[in-house]
Amino acid sequence: MKILHIDSATTGAHSVTRELSAAIVAHLKTKHEDAEVTVLDLGTMPLPHLDPVSTGAIRLPADQHTDDMKAAFPAERAVLDQFLASDIVVIGAPMYNFTIPSALKSWLDRLGVPGVTFGYSEAGPTGFAGGRRVIIASSRGGAYEEGNPAEHQESLLKVFFGFIGIPDLEFIRAEKIGFGPEAREQAIADAKEAILKL
Ligand SMILES: Cc1cc2nc3c(=O)[nH]c(=O)nc-3n(C[C@H](O)[C@H](O)[C@H](O)COP(=O)(O)O)c2cc1C
Repeated sequence: MKILHIDSATTGAHSVTRELSAAIVAHLKTKHEDAEVTVLDLGTMPLPHLDPVSTGAIRLPADQHTDDMKAAFPAERAVLDQFLASDIVVIGAPMYNFTIPSALKSWLDRLGVPGVTFGYSEAGPTGFAGGRRVIIASSRGGAYEEGNPAEHQESLLKVFFGFIGIPDLEFIRAEKIGFGPEAREQAIADAKEAILKL
């Protein structure tokens, strides 16, 4: 049983998603005592944004790689392989400016690989990365009802993981974090209750 524990918040010790993702992993370890946990901290060690070399290394067939792409390929592919080797992926995903942190987006950019995690046919796109749980620790300052057009955080993650074959994301959510200390404590306490049901 392999758990990949990812954080992307840049709010350090005050981070709600870091607190929740750690609580999720701790809970999972009580259920899977053999769990091997790998930590990927994108908030403090972000992957670079894609550039022409990394994009080519990730998405072009090997016989079209330039020398730069050949050199970049192993490290780029290692990010994808780490995800594909995981049985459960726990992701701390705060809302920053209506979407996910750019460091988390840079990680997603390494996972959407034609022929590996998805493919197209006449019937439409098919995702190939199913068979693993993805649990999201979500937090936001405001409150966003389903369908709110400003909400590009959980909705982006749902679309992305659905596209690569993981349609049933599990969300642990703490929102109204910006409504004051009491609202914040209540949201975190409610989220921790929900974690016990995972
Ligand atoms: C850079 C930044 C941008 C933010 N943008 C939004 C936003 O667009 N909407 C919102 O509801 N809250 C926003 N917030 C509040 C966070 O979503 C909220 O504090 C949440 O708890 C962040 O998770 P974290 O504590 O793990 O960093 C923002 C916070 C930061 C630091």
